[in-house]
Amino acid sequence: MPVIAHISDLHFGTEQPAVAQGLLDDLLEIKPDLVVNSGDLTQRARVRQFMAARAFMNRIPFPQLTVPGNHDIPFYDVMMRFFSPLARYQHYISRDLAPRFQTNEFFVLGVNTARSATWKNGRISVEQISEIRETLCALPFTQFKVLVTHHPFVPPPDDPSPALVGRGPEAMDVLDACGADLLLAGHLHRHYSADAKTHHVRIKRTILVAQAGTAISHRRRNEPNAYNLITVIPPEVTIQVRTWTGAKFEPLTSTRYMKIENHWTRQE
Ligand SMILES: [Fe+2]
Ligand SMILES: [Fe+2]
Repeated sequence: MPVIAHISDLHFGTEQPAVAQGLLDDLLEIKPDLVVNSGDLTQRARVRQFMAARAFMNRIPFPQLTVPGNHDIPFYDVMMRFFSPLARYQHYISRDLAPRFQTNEFFVLGVNTARSATWKNGRISVEQISEIRETLCALPFTQFKVLVTHHPFVPPPDDPSPALVGRGPEAMDVLDACGADLLLAGHLHRHYSADAKTHHVRIKRTILVAQAGTAISHRRRNEPNAYNLITVIPPEVTIQVRTWTGAKFEPLTSTRYMKIENHWTRQE
């Protein structure tokens, strides 16, 4: 039973040690097949923050797939921001800015959406859209396909106007054509899942979206610290939100989707 833990926005530098330990304890108990980390590992892209993030990652004994967030690019150091924006990320976290992970059951592709110029708001480039097409369209249509970005494709249900990932609609057309099943992202520090078609109305199929809150940072947006636990048993996917209760992470909600004739249908 493939299980993906989706953590995001750890923001080392603003992490809460007890929550970080609680997250590690929860992951060690659950033993996911993969830990996806959708960016903002640090608060200010400082060396000591990346070192703390790396030390935390080293304590997770499971495969990990990570993409950078806007906070992983230095903001105030203008030289670094524009000339070597992801040097520290690549030194301490991962050289690979287009990571992939594959099992017999699922395939995951990471895309870097963090940009120096539009520091807060992310983008997907034309080249990255081509790479998504070449990668995902080459896979069997039946394989469960996951894309990981830091910036979101779909707004929260109660806030229709946050900044979404740039060129999202163009990328969505390719994701639709190549049969992507699930998009994982963070950035907003809000947890929600949805059918991408509710926002991207021109796509033909349905694509699930799961946003993760901040797992361990005190930079919360009126929500407890949380992460997603995603269980993939085609044609079913369950997205469980696990939140910090003050003592441990526990399930908050569990949403089940079933794919019926290429459409994800929420099961009650
Ligand atoms: Fe963040
Ligand atoms: Fe962010």
